[in-house]
Amino acid sequence: MFFNLIRNALEAVRDQSERTLAIRSIPAPDGMVEITVEDNGPGLDPLIRDRMFQPFATTKTAGMGIGLSISQSIVHAHGGSIAAESEPGGGTVFRFTLPRAEALQEPEQAVRNG
Ligand SMILES: Nc1ncnc2c1ncn2[C@@H]1O[C@H](COP(=O)(O)OP(=O)(O)OP(=O)(O)O)[C@@H](O)[C@H]1O
Ligand SMILES: [Mg+2]
Repeated sequence: MFFNLIRNALEAVRDQSERTLAIRSIPAPDGMVEITVEDNGPGLDPLIRDRMFQPFATTKTAGMGIGLSISQSIVHAHGGSIAAESEPGGGTVFRFTLPRAEALQEPEQAVRNG
């Protein structure tokens, strides 16, 4: 899931002379954590923006177009949300939320499970 977003970011920055990939996590309300995956690629193609989370929506010649659809299913299954923003002048940020580990498990149980 996470890997899908990172792989997209790496594919997006492939043709940039200077490549930037930033991953951040910050606490979000209701026991969630917000994770952002940001790249300095060309940004989202306007033709794909409205349907990029749909299965088989792709702009890549060798793409299946399933990475984001799987990611969205997993995030929704855990009660989170996922969205993307194209930055003015290039770059894309994917932002999603998931429940924090301590919100899912009692602390003792979390320790026991490593
Ligand atoms: N970081 C990004 N920068 C620019 N466009 C993106 C980015 N991530 C996704 N996209 C756009 O969203 C489309 C759908 O992404 P998705 O991961 O679902 O499929 P894919 O990468 O094309 O194929 P795959 O099934 O191999 O993941 C991509 O084809 C691309 O146009
Ligand atoms: Mg992908």
